[in-house]
Amino acid sequence: MENYFNDHTSRSIEELLSLKGKGSVVTGGADGIGAGIVRRLAEAGSSVVVADIDIKKAEKISTEVAASTGSKVIACEVDVTDSGSLSRAAEICFENFGSLEIWVNNAGIFPATGKLSEVDDSFIDEMLEVNVRGTFAGSREAASRMKAGGVIINLASTQGLSGGPGISAYTASKHAVVGLTKSLAIDLAADGIRVVAVAPGVIDTPGVNDQLEPLKEAGINVSSIMANSLLGRSGVPDDVARVVLFLASDMADWITGATIPVDAGTLAG
Ligand SMILES: NC(=O)c1ccc[n+]([C@@H]2O[C@H](COP(=O)([O-])OP(=O)(O)OC[C@H]3O[C@@H](n4cnc5c(N)ncnc54)[C@H](O)[C@@H]3O)[C@@H](O)[C@H]2O)c1
Repeated sequence: MENYFNDHTSRSIEELLSLKGKGSVVTGGADGIGAGIVRRLAEAGSSVVVADIDIKKAEKISTEVAASTGSKVIACEVDVTDSGSLSRAAEICFENFGSLEIWVNNAGIFPATGKLSEVDDSFIDEMLEVNVRGTFAGSREAASRMKAGGVIINLASTQGLSGGPGISAYTASKHAVVGLTKSLAIDLAADGIRVVAVAPGVIDTPGVNDQLEPLKEAGINVSSIMANSLLGRSGVPDDVARVVLFLASDMADWITGATIPVDAGTLAG
């Protein structure tokens, strides 16, 4: 086996964190946690493809992040349930940046499941199609292009490590992402590819706010859900993005197969 993973003891922290010369693809990168990840990867010097189903938002964030970081950032219309569009995102990364070393499977959906007796098959199919098949297909695309090694980072959830009320389909999909992360890490290690995941707690994003809207309209105080944290404040996208940056960098060169909770301690008790 070729030795892709090195001893970095003599390198500086700045050098280890730098992503200069590395091409990245972030699915669902136009908003929420994905947009936070795009910002941090670009700030660290990576050239980034923002691969999102919402091309208008993807173009807006690409222009904004390119201007603020000086890195190359390109928008690409991608639906993670369409393998062909994932392939296009990888091609755009290669054609424009010359390489693809970082792939973030971030796009995901999280509608509440509700009562088991009321859930139909199409609801479960859609959840698994986006969250599991999308992560699987994205990883397949990434691995086929990472000829000189790389890192695949999956967005799991605290719901991939525990259960919760009324969200069983989402919980099943995120447990699958945690399992996929472990097995792909084993399968891809010999190719110099690390596979890791982050498991965020509740993060203030447009997706979460859409879910909370009906509760707010019903007069339910949602602040306790948002502030589910031992650390005195609710989570914001950059709380996850900083950890993704660490995992993408050589700082984390000896981490693979792991799912890292980013949850302000909600899994602790
Ligand atoms: N926000 C949280 O509290 C939280 C907690 C744990 C895990 N997560 C996970 O983090 C990821 C991002 O969550 P978020 O809260 O930022 O979501 P969000 O809904 O705020 O943003 C999701 C982004 O993904 C895009 N997207 C949706 N479906 C897509 C598809 N099929 N193909 C390509 N792009 C698509 C959307 O256009 C949007 O830009 C998801 O995988 C989610 O499960 C979120």
